[in-house]
Amino acid sequence: MQFSEFGQRLTAGSGIVSLMDDLGTALRENPDMLFLGGGNPARIEAVESLLSDAARHVLDQPERAHEMFGVYQSPAGDLVFRKSLAEHLNQQFEWGVGAANIALANGSQSAFFTLFNLLAGRHSDGSNRQIQLPLVPEYLGYSELGLTPDFFHANRPSIERLSEHEFKYHLDLDSLTVEPNSAALCVSRPTNPTGNMIGDTEMAALDRLAQSAAVPLIIDGAYGLPFPGIVFTEASCRWNDNTILVLSLSKLGFPGARTSIVIAAEPLIEAFAKANTVISLAAGNIGPAVAHELLKREQLLAMGRQSIAPFYQQRCHQAVQVLQRALAHLPYRLHKPEGAIFLWLWFEGLPITSQALYERLKAKGVLVIAGEHFFPGLTEPWRHRYECIRLSYAQPADVIERAAQIIAQEVTQVYEQDG
Ligand SMILES: Cc1ncc(COP(=O)(O)O)c(C=O)c1O
Repeated sequence: MQFSEFGQRLTAGSGIVSLMDDLGTALRENPDMLFLGGGNPARIEAVESLLSDAARHVLDQPERAHEMFGVYQSPAGDLVFRKSLAEHLNQQFEWGVGAANIALANGSQSAFFTLFNLLAGRHSDGSNRQIQLPLVPEYLGYSELGLTPDFFHANRPSIERLSEHEFKYHLDLDSLTVEPNSAALCVSRPTNPTGNMIGDTEMAALDRLAQSAAVPLIIDGAYGLPFPGIVFTEASCRWNDNTILVLSLSKLGFPGARTSIVIAAEPLIEAFAKANTVISLAAGNIGPAVAHELLKREQLLAMGRQSIAPFYQQRCHQAVQVLQRALAHLPYRLHKPEGAIFLWLWFEGLPITSQALYERLKAKGVLVIAGEHFFPGLTEPWRHRYECIRLSYAQPADVIERAAQIIAQEVTQVYEQDG
């Protein structure tokens, strides 16, 4: 069978697809693998019970159950839910949004596909516009979303060395400019893979840059604010007409629902809803129905603060302690963990690539993700890219403990073999 360029692009077996395949195969071949690779949310009992209570309540009412299972919703998604969400957001943050500023989609991965390709790619004036990622490392799931080549432009961050073993990326505001062919800026906050929470002042600067260049600022809040709120620092959650905020129910504990929520200026939402109708006909109803029930119970925004963030913060704290003990003799640095569900480990001067380290760790029964894949759009050479790995700490402490020992042994050998 011969595939089109579109077909080839999506099936090339590079990037995220081969990565996910490799993780899947490794797990099938060795079910005892210590799995620090995936993005699955952890099971949190309190959260599971809130979600299933809300779902049961909806199912128990025949009219609501029918609406959930038996109808196609309007192009932008369930109007009653969108109105209610807008009211809650206005109460909490005074954003001044209405239902017309909100569209629902089937997971934020697919929302980004639509959104990115609505904005970037070939324009009728002949220009080729790009999505600019002003701070890489950035979410690797973006990499293959563009329907045209050369889809992303990436900017390297500045690196603040906080202590012997800790660092933090910042937007490099001294040199950062919006590229002349940028269609939009995009950041995940907190960032997958690093757990970086770009500070309020830096976000305000980014917002000013975007506004003065008349391009939208896309904020991927998959882990962030206002929900699921996996954020360990003081941070505010701002929105204006130039912001496109993309939220998801996945890290709230509901990835199976495939539900995301896009909040943006009305013309963008109209365009997004039309495109989404072409692609999906309608957004699914199950996630929005449960989220609406949680909203009615004042739980949608509260469960992050009360249950989800404290859970991950504790897991994170344990994982950091374990790694600090295991790696103490190595030249490692951890990115300051400020949110999301990952730790980003930097081995300065690592003599092999992060992909080679990934393979060696896989052979020893530990699955991580090689850092080099998290730089979509970065064309300039940068050694740092090959020196990092991403670990998920959604796993129980004993898994992290065993994995940390193996990582320490393997990395020690790598440095010794080099010396
Ligand atoms: C930063 C980021 N954005 C978007 C997504 C996509 O999430 P979903 O399609 O489940 O909403 C993920 C998934 O892990 C992510 O990490």
